[in-house]
Amino acid sequence: MTIQDTALLSEWHPVLLSSALGDEPVPVTVLGEKAAVFRTSQGVHAFKDLCIHRGVPLSLGKVKDDELVCAYHGWSYNGCGTCTRIPSLPADRAIPTKARAFVYGCVEAHGFIWVCLGLPQSPLPKVSSFIPDGFKEVLMGPYTLQAAGPRIIENFLDVSHLMFVHEGLLGDSEFAEIGDYQVNEENGVLTSDEIVVYQPDPDGTGRGVHSRYVYEVFGPLCVAFTKRDHGTDHIFRLFLMVLPVTEQMSKAFMLKQRNYAYEESDEIFVKFQDLLIEQDRVMVENQKPELLPLDLQAELHLNTDRLSIAYRKRLRELGVSFGTA
Ligand code: FES
Ligand code: CO
Repeated sequence: MTIQDTALLSEWHPVLLSSALGDEPVPVTVLGEKAAVFRTSQGVHAFKDLCIHRGVPLSLGKVKDDELVCAYHGWSYNGCGTCTRIPSLPADRAIPTKARAFVYGCVEAHGFIWVCLGLPQSPLPKVSSFIPDGFKEVLMGPYTLQAAGPRIIENFLDVSHLMFVHEGLLGDSEFAEIGDYQVNEENGVLTSDEIVVYQPDPDGTGRGVHSRYVYEVFGPLCVAFTKRDHGTDHIFRLFLMVLPVTEQMSKAFMLKQRNYAYEESDEIFVKFQDLLIEQDRVMVENQKPELLPLDLQAELHLNTDRLSIAYRKRLRELGVSFGTA
């Protein structure tokens, strides 16, 4: 598939949890492009998943002596993509200079492996600089969703679904009204005012609270909210980073941070998030049109949708087309 989305080509996309990349190469798909991701003593690498010799996916190969060895005829590529060995070639013959793997940007940061297919805007994913230290963290994902990345992001930014899709947990349909709020922009980051939501059971303990949400949009497929409960100093921050696999298929990764319940097992938080994602899945996998409409005349907006409107405008400004219509 040809990718023509310059904005998303220059983004770092999360492809794997660091813990999911061991000694074997792993195939991933970013914006319809297949890549082989592997680890050597120098770090992580991503190559186009195609051996130039006979077109076999390099991800079928093995990592040996810090090089990726193709499964078909054993050509060996170093981390820069240079072919250093062709076993069938007589010793007095030089390796053709065209024998190279196509190298994509690949970094490991904050518990994830990230790939950039084009020219990255920054050496590390921008989100790293927005992640505060000193919190207990849980990494989650990937959640595979048959939905366009921007639809999934917008669902995360949508406050008024909490009372219906997550009723009894993150909202109560008897208290569905949402006060007006604004969305501000600073240094390219969109930030909402505090939005107050009554939550009957936001963490599975059965304790209802008035929560104050502040949403942030860092990039086209990278967002977060910070939640503070009324009457406590608990801070809960949830990052969502969506990998656009194809236009209508995505993998969602999450990073959850909290400054309370340090002793609580991560398992509980992961299970709770799994449940919420399944509730959201029904909506995002069935929305029509499948792609997020960027024409603001399409669909019907209310003041409470300010954040979604700001997000759609931002995608237009950035020139994102993949996953939008
Ligand atoms: Fe990869 Fe021949 S196809 S070495
Ligand atoms: Co939801």
